[in-house]
Amino acid sequence: MEVVIAPAPELARLAADAVERLLTARPDGVLGLATGSSPLAVYDELARRHAEHGLSFARARAFLLDEYVGLPADHPQRYRNVIDAELVARVDLPPGSVHGPDGLAADLPGACAAYERAIADAGGVDLQLLGIGTDGHVAFNEPGSSLGSRTRIKTLTRRTREDNARFFDGDVDAVPTHCLTQGLATIMAARHLVLLAHGRGKAQAVHQLVEGPVSALWPATVLQLHPHVTVLVDDAAASRL
Ligand code: GLP
Repeated sequence: MEVVIAPAPELARLAADAVERLLTARPDGVLGLATGSSPLAVYDELARRHAEHGLSFARARAFLLDEYVGLPADHPQRYRNVIDAELVARVDLPPGSVHGPDGLAADLPGACAAYERAIADAGGVDLQLLGIGTDGHVAFNEPGSSLGSRTRIKTLTRRTREDNARFFDGDVDAVPTHCLTQGLATIMAARHLVLLAHGRGKAQAVHQLVEGPVSALWPATVLQLHPHVTVLVDDAAASRL
């Protein structure tokens, strides 16, 4: 696990460098995209590089980490819509090459199994961007998630719903109670993991991620077992290391 402590703009550049290296070596590379505030500056940087020197996503494919269950197709906080606005619409990544778990499927377990197959059929994820929750969740793998889990339905904890209420006009009751999320084993199958964390609110989770014992109580700690992880944190997020 490589840990880089640097100011936020530098972290975004480093994550974008990893994406650019992948797409230069392999234009049809498979990206794993994360939502939440942590990767936003990375998407800004990728959009800038696309505009300024033609970094191309035209042959790339992408898979989202997770999705809320039950948000209407046109809801702005549906993760598929969020990623379309934050990245897809700003670069030349074909919308048809971007996939997410279907939180509106009538058969949710079937949608989870289909999503696992789609990732496998694409040859797996080359580079997975990740954030981390204040409780150490990655994607929506909340504390107690099996380290061997695959894509499945999860119940969101009260804490995560409160954390994410800021995207729903501060109304925790508007935050869905369930989600579909790649499992920890799904995420661990990606070839390179790049995790970003900013701010003091993430300090305890980052401390556990880097220095804690591997435990389902802090799901991100499973990343310690991955052979190629880059952890990009600012001073505040690193303050308990
Ligand atoms: C959400 C997402 C995660 C994300 C986490 C942290 O719950 N499902 O993928 O990493 O929140 O979000 P933020 O980056 O906004 O702190």
